[in-house]
Amino acid sequence: YVIGVDLGTSAVKILLMNQYGEVCHEVSKSYPLIQEKSGYSEQDPEQWVEKTIVGLKKMVDQFKGSIQDIDGISFSGQMHGLVLLDSNHNVLRNAILWNDTRTTEQCRKIEEIVGVERLLAVTKNPALEGFTLPKILWVKEHESTIFEKATVFLLPKDYLRYRLTGLIHSEFSDAAGTLLLDVGEKKWSEEICELLGIDISLCPPLVSSHEQTGTITSEVAEKTGLSPDVKVFAGGADNACGAIGSGILSDGKTLCSIGTSGVVLSYEQRNDLDFGGKVHYFNHGEENAYYTMGVTLAAGYSLSWFKDVFAKDIDFEELLDGIDEVPIGANGLLFTPYIAGERTPHADSVIRGSFIGMDASHERRDFVRAVLEGITFSLNESIEIFRENGKMIETVISIGGGAKNNAWLQMQADIFNVNIMKLVSEQGPGMGAAMLAAYGCGWFSTLKECSDKFVQVNETFTPNEENVASYKKLFNLYKNVYSSTKALNE
Ligand code: XUL
Repeated sequence: YVIGVDLGTSAVKILLMNQYGEVCHEVSKSYPLIQEKSGYSEQDPEQWVEKTIVGLKKMVDQFKGSIQDIDGISFSGQMHGLVLLDSNHNVLRNAILWNDTRTTEQCRKIEEIVGVERLLAVTKNPALEGFTLPKILWVKEHESTIFEKATVFLLPKDYLRYRLTGLIHSEFSDAAGTLLLDVGEKKWSEEICELLGIDISLCPPLVSSHEQTGTITSEVAEKTGLSPDVKVFAGGADNACGAIGSGILSDGKTLCSIGTSGVVLSYEQRNDLDFGGKVHYFNHGEENAYYTMGVTLAAGYSLSWFKDVFAKDIDFEELLDGIDEVPIGANGLLFTPYIAGERTPHADSVIRGSFIGMDASHERRDFVRAVLEGITFSLNESIEIFRENGKMIETVISIGGGAKNNAWLQMQADIFNVNIMKLVSEQGPGMGAAMLAAYGCGWFSTLKECSDKFVQVNETFTPNEENVASYKKLFNLYKNVYSSTKALNE
């Protein structure tokens, strides 16, 4: 058996998988976001550790087999979050998360000092509020006494792994999202550190995602009931692990993953393609591979926001019930999901969302359909960038919240104008983490071999020509909303 731990934004999800790729146990424990001011988004790293240990214990309690048969554990994690540690490796402040947008000024400073062209050449990405480096600079500027005590920074799942093993590491797929990694050369960039006055010793040692990084400590073994011999593997960024867990392991494969954020992601064998920084370009969890990705900041988050505000007492299934009876275009209602700003294609943390075209006859389900259409339009803007840059998108594997409802899957097929595939057992990033452990343990000779066994397609949703045409018109309207509403938030 292997364990995959996915340290998400709203919860940690833990999977126990056997060698046939079957999920034997699943445990989830949630923790809150701390949002002190508009644009701020933090979490207490201690909560991640506490909830993971409680979750692992619960899993072990449910497990009927021999504990010695659990060979390995690995991690997937929300990307970009900053955890700063002092010389005793104690946490210095709450983690600043990927969806925190306080760092616009630091982003401009990075681009000014390093130069956009050089930044793209080294890190393959522009400076965006969500990334780690602007957060480091923010702490340096605004909380200098805390910053002076910092000896190393870690990304969320790397901190969790540290607490389980006592060893400090990061790995390439998550390091790529810091804006401090030379993505092509796979090493921390001395040049960028120097230019921005960051001591390179603040950057943790790097390993590959499938590499072993020790075993769990005897204290954690005791608390969880796991064997102290269980091997711990580095793991990867949640999007890299989502890709692995969905079999996105060769050129031409594309993923649509809708969680709190939504991403469209494409496997890249090469690291020298030029998307002009319009999409993210990160190291994959598979060694020496890459992926490009567009991000909708508030994808599932738009839907959960809507539910929290307007339909608190029902569950998501009930909320989405009947949306297939609402015609395409939600009876004239259009939604843009910029409720927390937007990444791709606008890279604008200030823009806010909108409902346009409200009519007194509209019912809740019209709004729900409009929200789903708006999220999917936003993701289609990333698909459009890929296509404009000559990328062929033949099929898209859909996972996460967007794959839980057939009407939404059909909507993705019609809006993206491509076959959408749903997987048999859809476990997303947690499964990718478990696969990294399985591969690391030597169960398979390649990750691809592991994915051939673990990942199977269930159903395909094909685009309907008439729907494609209707959505095309709406998508063109949707694209105008950004520039028309931008002044509202300036
Ligand atoms: C990717 C990103 C999000 C987080 C969500 O760049 O910011 O998808 O990884 O966990």
